[in-house]
Amino acid sequence: MTNANLLLTPVTIGGKTIQNRFAVGAMECNDSDDEGNPSDATYARYEKYFAGGSGFISLEAITCQRESVSSLHQLSVTPTNAKPLEKFVRHLKSINKDTIFVFQLTHSGEVGHPVLSKPVRVTEEPLYGYEHARLIGESEVAVIMDQIVEGAKIAHAAGADGIDLKLCTGYLGAQILRPFNKGNWKYGGSWEKRRQFAFDLTERIMKEVNDPTFIIGSKVTVYEGIPGGQGSAGPDTALMDLTESIDLVRGLEERGVSYIIEAAGAPRHTEDLSKTDRTKPYIGYLHFYFQNVLRGALKPETKVIGNCYSLYRDGGLKTFPAVKPENNTLAFWGNKNIQDGVVDLVSLGRQSLADPSVPKKMAENKDAEIKWCIGCDNCTVFLISQEGGGCAAYDPSLAEKLKEIKRRQ
Ligand SMILES: Cc1cc2nc3c(=O)[nH]c(=O)nc-3n(C[C@H](O)[C@H](O)[C@H](O)COP(=O)(O)O)c2cc1C
Repeated sequence: MTNANLLLTPVTIGGKTIQNRFAVGAMECNDSDDEGNPSDATYARYEKYFAGGSGFISLEAITCQRESVSSLHQLSVTPTNAKPLEKFVRHLKSINKDTIFVFQLTHSGEVGHPVLSKPVRVTEEPLYGYEHARLIGESEVAVIMDQIVEGAKIAHAAGADGIDLKLCTGYLGAQILRPFNKGNWKYGGSWEKRRQFAFDLTERIMKEVNDPTFIIGSKVTVYEGIPGGQGSAGPDTALMDLTESIDLVRGLEERGVSYIIEAAGAPRHTEDLSKTDRTKPYIGYLHFYFQNVLRGALKPETKVIGNCYSLYRDGGLKTFPAVKPENNTLAFWGNKNIQDGVVDLVSLGRQSLADPSVPKKMAENKDAEIKWCIGCDNCTVFLISQEGGGCAAYDPSLAEKLKEIKRRQ
């Protein structure tokens, strides 16, 4: 392997060149104000991401319609949020104008918060556990699509560099793509119909935003790990068959997307596959396989952003068997996977909450100062407790808040 740190080399996405291969993964932290606008806490989080030097930053899942929030204080991108979002982006770009900043446009569908939102489903037979979600038809899906296109236009007007059309983590885009969406309707039944939801949205966003410099991409679950989930061979089997996932990303590429963020699993159904657990972190190696499949399916100019790199850290997590710690670090795998053509960029989710300055510290040879994610997943505890959060391992005020949450439980 080359001695150069490939993580610190430039890469071009959608015509814009960024200075390193680090991406901040989308991380909902439930800290908007009551209207879904960025609050002081949201500003503080993103200021750190922008100062940390990552080439690419995903604004967490932002809902295009208030009634589908996944948590009480999820960010929103509706017409009433336009001005506050514009101010937010302007402020962040004043910290670092060179990073690519995309909004992850989303609708929660059946996994919308059961009390705080109105969960909806597109399958006549509900997915087990989601019987409470209301069945919607084509006309309501059409309205949702209009809202997502509107969200893209608001993101563009706000000064974002692009969007991430969310087709992952069990949200509505994923629910429509799944083989389990087997009923015969406009976007259900055959693969040709299911994939059309993503294709129609991509084409509409391209046309209606009408700016060739606006970067469109998608975080795609390659294999969901539930029977009938994305990347399974049929509606009632969990057998892995990536034919549809490959066809999806190629179809998105044909329509002009510039990047794909790899994902696997879904937090509510197959949590350890979607973000590796520190007691069995080797599940993360599966993500390398999925990244390689995507990289092999796409043209070189369509960039693949690999996910689930947080727990490699400095090799210090003791629960990886059969591998020398020095051959199991973020730097080792990031470099190797870029060199081997497995991936173009690496995304850091939980690590970005623990320390958003990994790129800056690596560039300054200050790796020893990096505060590594300990994989405690308390960032998820904040989210499911409907509290604004972040990394309690390194933020004493959040550590206090966590104690309070645990006392209440
Ligand atoms: C608190 C929390 C919030 C998350 N929010 C989102 C989100 O808004 N959108 C998304 O696609 N993934 C979300 N994820 C998943 C992460 O982006 C990432 O895929 C996952 O944590 C694995 O990467 P990591 O090992 O670098 O943490 C979230 C994860 C956590 C822990």
